[in-house]
Amino acid sequence: MSIKTLAIETSCDETSVSVVEDGRKVLSNVILSQIKTHQRFGGVVPEIASREHLEAINYVIKEGLEEAKLGFDDIDVIAVTNGPGLIGALLVGISAAKGMSMALDKPLVGVNHMKGHICANYLAHQELEPPFISLVVSGGHTYLVDVTGYDTYEVIGRTRDDAAGESFDKVSRALGLGYPGGPQIQKAAESGNSEAINFPRVMLEKDSYDFSFSGLKTAVLNYLNTEKMAGHEININDVAASFQKAVLDVLVQKSIRLLQEKKRDKFVLSGGVAANKPLRELLEKECEKIGVKMYYPPLELCTDNAAMIASAGYFDYINNGSDTLDLDVFPNLGL
Ligand code: KG4
Ligand code: ZN
Repeated sequence: MSIKTLAIETSCDETSVSVVEDGRKVLSNVILSQIKTHQRFGGVVPEIASREHLEAINYVIKEGLEEAKLGFDDIDVIAVTNGPGLIGALLVGISAAKGMSMALDKPLVGVNHMKGHICANYLAHQELEPPFISLVVSGGHTYLVDVTGYDTYEVIGRTRDDAAGESFDKVSRALGLGYPGGPQIQKAAESGNSEAINFPRVMLEKDSYDFSFSGLKTAVLNYLNTEKMAGHEININDVAASFQKAVLDVLVQKSIRLLQEKKRDKFVLSGGVAANKPLRELLEKECEKIGVKMYYPPLELCTDNAAMIASAGYFDYINNGSDTLDLDVFPNLGL
């Protein structure tokens, strides 16, 4: 018999509810984005995010069920993101999930948002199975992970400061391109020369798989200041393209080195930054060279959504069972 998981995702600025069958088949995936609200502030305002989640959550749950043509009784498991993320935003999702779990007497499963990003690929690629190497690049986190099973993740590298997506957002703001930065930088970069400015590629120690992007961000800010002080006109497209290439070079080089070291033949890209087209293209080219098959989710499953949480929740549930109603939220939860 199949297991239908209803998942709630409210860790940042998307209120999302989805129903997924057996961790693989998306029956519904409703995403209500708050981006327009936060855009005028240049980034996500946590208090406003919580308030908007609270206003939207019941409606989005209803839509999630309607789109799947199911009622509450058809649901077997309730999954919810319980970290990492904004504490107030996470609390809205977890409170709704607990309420449903209690009222319907259905098992509750807390899901790590970053595992969700990886599992988005199970929804898009029915044949994909562990083991594989995954690069998880989102707005708050950057991980290189050896995924050895459906619920076993070995973190090999992580960022020591800014996340990859965070650096896109900060540089975008400095260039006056707005929020969220990734898509804006990508667009500006299309008309720029990626070799125009030689920004640093921070590789850290020779054997390290960790990342550090704050130095690159500072290098871009210094470049902008120096050029302004000298009265030079700044070519925003060239800055965007050169910055983007510097991020991509580091991500690609470390991913390929890890694939070779672990001798894995599958590579899975995930997280919001996986939406970046040049990153996908560069990784695909380099993976092909070493005989590795590369996977990435379609755009709507790259950025935050509840379908990926339902998938991760399902695999967590069948491997480890459910959580109790005292499940807590963990804003800094690691992988
Ligand atoms: O995974 P996500 O939706 O939310 C978090 O869990 O953080 O990732 C959002 C991040 C933002 O930093 C955004 O700028 C970045 O993903 N992003 C991109 C692109 N689309 C979204 N970065 C680079 N290129 C893109 N096309
Ligand atoms: Zn995310």
